[in-house]
Amino acid sequence: MARVIPSYCGLPAWTSRAFLTTAVLVATSALAADVLDGNALKRLVHQDCGSCHGLSLKGGLGPDLRSKSLDHYDADVLTDVILDGIPGTAMPPWRPLISEEEAEWIARYLLESEAQ
Ligand code: HEC
Repeated sequence: MARVIPSYCGLPAWTSRAFLTTAVLVATSALAADVLDGNALKRLVHQDCGSCHGLSLKGGLGPDLRSKSLDHYDADVLTDVILDGIPGTAMPPWRPLISEEEAEWIARYLLESEAQ
């Protein structure tokens, strides 16, 4: 599927600052991971995401979400796709329903093979 993935090549001057922000976010979400309800989020992934992507995430209306099909994403980009959806398609934004930490948890869950 052709999609523009933000390029991390030819990084402009603000990157080191963005990197710091990311590092802080990652550190914060590592703490937040303790309070996220992993079982509830797994249920959301398999039932809600699964209603379009297939209960076993192998694809349906939406594409296959197993980690081998998502290796063109890094966790940050995947988190954004989950939060903002894919405009002009049936992939909805989840920002109104879940927190950024939860979206990031889901992104990491999908990228690890545990979701299969
Ligand atoms: C209403 C149906 C629907 C639901 C619910 C849904 N999606 Fe999607 N999703 C889609 C469709 C359709 C696409 C393909 C959009 C396109 O044509 O690019 C998609 C695309 C994606 C992609 C991009 C896949 C790729 O290979 O580029 C990801 C990642 C994704 N969805 C994750 C999720 C997650 C995580 C959830 C649950 C939090 C979810 N989706 C819930 C319909 C849905």
